[in-house]
Amino acid sequence: MEQLKNESSRQYEYMEEMKKWVQKKSGELGRKLTCHVTTFGCQMNEKDSEKLLGILETIGYEEVETEEADFLIFNTCTVRENANTKLYGHLGQVKKMKERNPQMMIGLCGCMMQEEHVIEKIRSSYKFVDIIFGTHNIFKLAELLKARVDSKGMIVDIWKDTDQIVEDLPSDRKFSFKCGVNIMYGCNNFCSYCIVPYVRGRERSRKPEDIIKEVKQVVSEGVKEVMLLGQNVNSYGKTLEEPMSFAELLREVEKVEGLERIRFMTPHPKDLSDDLIEVMATSKKVCKHMHLPMQSGSSRLLKLMNRHYTKEQYVALAKKIQERIPGVSFTTDIIVGFPGETEEDFKETLDVVREVGFDSAYTYVYSKRSGTPAASMEDQVDKDVIKDRFDRLLALLKETSAKNCKKKVGDIERVLIEEENTHEEGMLTGRLENNLLVHFKGCKEQIGTMADVKLVEEKGFYYMGEQIHG
Ligand code: SAH
Ligand code: SF4
Ligand code: F3S
Repeated sequence: MEQLKNESSRQYEYMEEMKKWVQKKSGELGRKLTCHVTTFGCQMNEKDSEKLLGILETIGYEEVETEEADFLIFNTCTVRENANTKLYGHLGQVKKMKERNPQMMIGLCGCMMQEEHVIEKIRSSYKFVDIIFGTHNIFKLAELLKARVDSKGMIVDIWKDTDQIVEDLPSDRKFSFKCGVNIMYGCNNFCSYCIVPYVRGRERSRKPEDIIKEVKQVVSEGVKEVMLLGQNVNSYGKTLEEPMSFAELLREVEKVEGLERIRFMTPHPKDLSDDLIEVMATSKKVCKHMHLPMQSGSSRLLKLMNRHYTKEQYVALAKKIQERIPGVSFTTDIIVGFPGETEEDFKETLDVVREVGFDSAYTYVYSKRSGTPAASMEDQVDKDVIKDRFDRLLALLKETSAKNCKKKVGDIERVLIEEENTHEEGMLTGRLENNLLVHFKGCKEQIGTMADVKLVEEKGFYYMGEQIHG
């Protein structure tokens, strides 16, 4: 513990040192130095980017909206191949920017950098990159910048794994009224298609007192809604010195005064406890929205995916939740075209979609990730077959979500007002407990507050509403 305290103070010392360097540079240039962080991937990465920005701003960089900045960081994702392609596309552009602004610094970090073949490619084909780091050492940004300034060559610092959690570093939140809070890092599940366990390392939970301290802090700064983040929140707390379950953690977070809403991502269907369902059913703050990734409806494929549940178990769990929490909204993740997926397997997936009646789903075409067990499975499915299945799945999801959307028309719902509606002046956009959006009249001073809104008209996957004053 002592050692970790030291790590964060060590990093603050580097930040102080680099602050002087930034001041000197801006003196020479006669302007402020600017920075930008481009984020690919999931909410873990979004959260990490807020930490990176926190460090950059502490050092004295000023955030700008465009990638044309003095320090540009790409926080990368590698969950599917198209995430990788995206990065290389951006890097092509960046090369030209750097020719225009030679003192521009380029940093690459995140999940993709944990893969050796990526590092090799960048070393050989993208020599203009300045700093490369991974998922385990983002807290070192100031130290790495110092190393780069001192050495004048590319700095590469990738850790294979870590058991370290460095607390108390700066963070610059994207929204003033909602934010993600890490409760754990890494994943031990090794679903056979998934690269995340290889690039995010083994599961480690943050201590409840550190989590509560952060939640209290952000609430005191105006946050109304927190999203508790982990690759499988159901295994929260198992590795702590004093083990604690996720349901118990939720009860503790609920006690934070001033906090209005709690969301979480992601629970795994294999170990979702009755206690968690109970907390969700009785809590005033935990949103009645369950994002429960199913991946496939075929028990045969679920076994090959190493998911540890069957179609029947998934459906039974969903029904149990729907019975205990009336009106709960259900969303999921589905992969189409896992190796060996037959028409029969796919129909099982459609079957579950119909039976559970999802409010919405993230649907993905299977992407082969090298190093995962599924990558060497035979029978990779034909592209045209996948396309056809994907379209059929989307059509069915459109039906189930529209059906659910209709049910709420006429209801009065409490919403968190998130932004002005860009399409129409004088209109605001609020988020319902079930994660859908409603547009209604209001003034922009209300952004970041809660309001009661009557859902007047449904538009398939969002609503038009009227604010209820009083
Ligand atoms: N830990 C979370 C999800 C992490 S990744 C969970 O277990 O649900 C988010 C989603 O990406 C997964 O749910 C899965 O649907 C999808 N995904 C992961 N690997 C993939 C791959 N190789 N191809 C296509 N989709 C993938
Ligand atoms: Fe990937 Fe499975 Fe871990 Fe989710 S639980 S991150 S899908 S290995
Ligand atoms: Fe997230 Fe992509 Fe990494 S989905 S954990 S940023 S591989």
